[in-house]
Amino acid sequence: MKVLSVTSECVPLVKTGGLADVAGALPGALAPMGVEMATLLPGYPAVMAAVKGRVVAEWSLFGGPARVIGGQLDEAPLYVLDAPHLYDRPGSIYLDGTGKDWPDNPERFAALCKAAARIAGDGIGGWVPDVLHLHDWQAGLTPVYLRETPGTARTVMTVHNIAFQGLAPASKIEALGLPRDLFTQAGFEFWGQVSALKAGLALADRITTVSPSYAQELMTPEFGMGMEGLIRHREADVTGILNGIDLDLWGAPYKTPKGKARHKAALRAEFGLPDWPGPLCIVVSRLTEQKGLDLLLDALPALLDNGGQLALLGSGNADLEARYRDLAVAHEGVAVQIGYDEGLSHRMMAGADAILVPSRFEPCGLTQLYGLAHGTVPVVAMTGGLADTVIPLNPATRAKGVATGFQFRPVTAHALAVTLRQVVEAYGDKELWTLLQKNAMAQPVGWDASAAEYAALYESLVAT
Ligand code: ADP
Ligand code: GLC
Repeated sequence: MKVLSVTSECVPLVKTGGLADVAGALPGALAPMGVEMATLLPGYPAVMAAVKGRVVAEWSLFGGPARVIGGQLDEAPLYVLDAPHLYDRPGSIYLDGTGKDWPDNPERFAALCKAAARIAGDGIGGWVPDVLHLHDWQAGLTPVYLRETPGTARTVMTVHNIAFQGLAPASKIEALGLPRDLFTQAGFEFWGQVSALKAGLALADRITTVSPSYAQELMTPEFGMGMEGLIRHREADVTGILNGIDLDLWGAPYKTPKGKARHKAALRAEFGLPDWPGPLCIVVSRLTEQKGLDLLLDALPALLDNGGQLALLGSGNADLEARYRDLAVAHEGVAVQIGYDEGLSHRMMAGADAILVPSRFEPCGLTQLYGLAHGTVPVVAMTGGLADTVIPLNPATRAKGVATGFQFRPVTAHALAVTLRQVVEAYGDKELWTLLQKNAMAQPVGWDASAAEYAALYESLVAT
């Protein structure tokens, strides 16, 4: 089975969020299942600097030359789309210097989709994929371009986040080389605009998302963000397959919760936090509306007034950044690092007592899984993948001794505050807390089960 994974980011080459972790882990997770997964990635500067290989295709795409460089990423094949007029620019891969989407994002990712469709049609260097695995809107137009290419490749569209829909004005239809006949409600038209995500949702053979709960939520107006009707219509083709984490990268540097003490002391020292009796909680997150960190600001006294602490690493919304910075100045129990720092995120997972994830919606979420692996007890909103991966402490789970963390709902500051008080209390009960940590560390969070589900999905598609 040969699968081409089409993605706009991939660890360790380029990452803005969990998609990169997932795309980076899938080839290695699928290899033992007999799936040969190659990755197609845009040739941003960081990717071009890292890739070593030879040119395996040359085309012209959207007003400039484009080449595909065939290389390797660990054991797996990597194809890099080198198109300097689209990707060779400094800064964020999605945003310009002012924080707005690059104006040519529709072309930039349409080019990725065109390249994927051509690879599916003609093969590349003799390699012909059976399945194209398309990640998020950046890969969404692929099934449209596939209509013009020969070959039999099947398509799987994975929704990592429905909030990003890949919208472009209808005036770009011709420039993007899209067929007018699909500019309909059943095609890629979305409220008068082109939606690359909708194209993928409407036309891919199968749709997956990254947790079973989010698959259900996507069919509701509350979470579907306007796509719920289409997803309901395609319900028979929709599955939720939970993300795993790459334990080679994210396994804990200790085997039992006792091993945490050294890392906790180091983390406190690094953040300049005093040695207080309550739980040391962390947040590692994009600072956006999705992540609910405005709620945490309001709920935080419930933690801080009871001897708990917060160390936050994140970046995004300028207002939230400023509010957290101010809080760190005002409160000695709070330390804040604004920015993006992969190494620090690892040290935080290793050293903290609990990780807070108060998201308003969360397709899967990875940081709670990193927390579980490290015995860093997750405190999460009861939504999407957070609901699917954390066994909340309540009377029933307490009686059975199976809880791995805390969940709260509704997703409000009040409910979060109530839960933070429970966290502080549970932390004071050493026996209970150690049990939570042990349960967390024993929970399987690797890729085995989910990789098998993807492999079965590809098989079922190719068999039909
Ligand atoms: P999302 O993709 O919605 O941002 P996930 O939980 O799936 O949420 O994945 C986020 C990924 O990005 C995790 O690997 C997390 O550790 C990482 N991350 C987020 N913010 C930062 C940051 N400021 N510094 C380092 N890593 C971060
Ligand atoms: C998205 C979601 C996140 C998920 C990640 C990887 O960024 O916001 O919940 O874990 O994709 O699938």
